[in-house]
Amino acid sequence: MKIIRTVAEMQAHADQKRMEGRTLALVPTMGSLHEGHLSLVRRAKAEADHVTVSIFVNPTQFGPNEDFKAYPRNFQRDCELLEEVGGVSTIFAPDEATLYPEGSDQQRVWVTCPEMSRQLCGKYRPGHFEGVLTVVMKLLAACKPHNVIFGLKDIQQYILLKQMVQDLALDIKVIGGETVREPNGLAYSSRNEYLTADERSQASIISKAINSATQMIEDGEENPIAVTGLMREMIHSVPQAKLQYAEIVTASKLEPVEQFIPGVQVIVAVAVYFRHIRLIDNAFALVPV
Ligand code: PAJ
Repeated sequence: MKIIRTVAEMQAHADQKRMEGRTLALVPTMGSLHEGHLSLVRRAKAEADHVTVSIFVNPTQFGPNEDFKAYPRNFQRDCELLEEVGGVSTIFAPDEATLYPEGSDQQRVWVTCPEMSRQLCGKYRPGHFEGVLTVVMKLLAACKPHNVIFGLKDIQQYILLKQMVQDLALDIKVIGGETVREPNGLAYSSRNEYLTADERSQASIISKAINSATQMIEDGEENPIAVTGLMREMIHSVPQAKLQYAEIVTASKLEPVEQFIPGVQVIVAVAVYFRHIRLIDNAFALVPV
């Protein structure tokens, strides 16, 4: 595995591989890798013959009161995990000055998608998706992949990035990888490391609530409020869990669903705090005809 630290070197490397006729895939991450990330790496290997994993904790997607400084960083361990999985040719691990030459607080050009950024997590994390879209644009420009793989676990991020690639006419295929879960159903997240063993077990209520909601919709429940009500009730049954939102939105524009339309796909999404630790999860549900 080659570790590349600068944009110029990464671009030259990608150009070389493209000239050799290789297909390139990129898996963008913030490191502290877990099974969820590794599943995206495996997916990338199936899609392309040269896989790059980027590792960069992006300051512009963290709010002033969020955990940028405390965010888990384990570069050595990440390299070992990627070595074990195999098939990763390159790790792109730039530092902040490389991706933000004038400083991340001096960035002048941003990629934004105001409407869809306002929904779900965006309501509570102003500026977050601007930071994500902008850094992913930089990573794509540096790594020049044919395919890029994101997790469906961060569904709003996935939909926004797909929209960015489409609207900016980037010649890149965006692939969504299924959410990988711990045995109790909790979706893997780098932030799970902050949870105590007890919280980790209590946090399984999140996926249980989502599964119950999906089931209720697919069984023909007609009232979205009844479905979000059930999720609230389930999450409130765990005293340590503080619900931020439980919503049902359209899969196309992430708009709140006020009425179920037969045959339409919706997304059930939840954000919950355990102390300061924010966990999110979601699932698709198909409204029956
Ligand atoms: P990070 O949280 O490190 O996640 C990197 C990728 O792994 C994202 O596409 C995310 O959706 C995916 N992922 C996380 N947990 C997953 C799980 N349990 N199952 C499947 N996929 C999972 O998301 C980011 O980093 C950043 O916002 C980034 C896109 C790298 C931009 O900075």
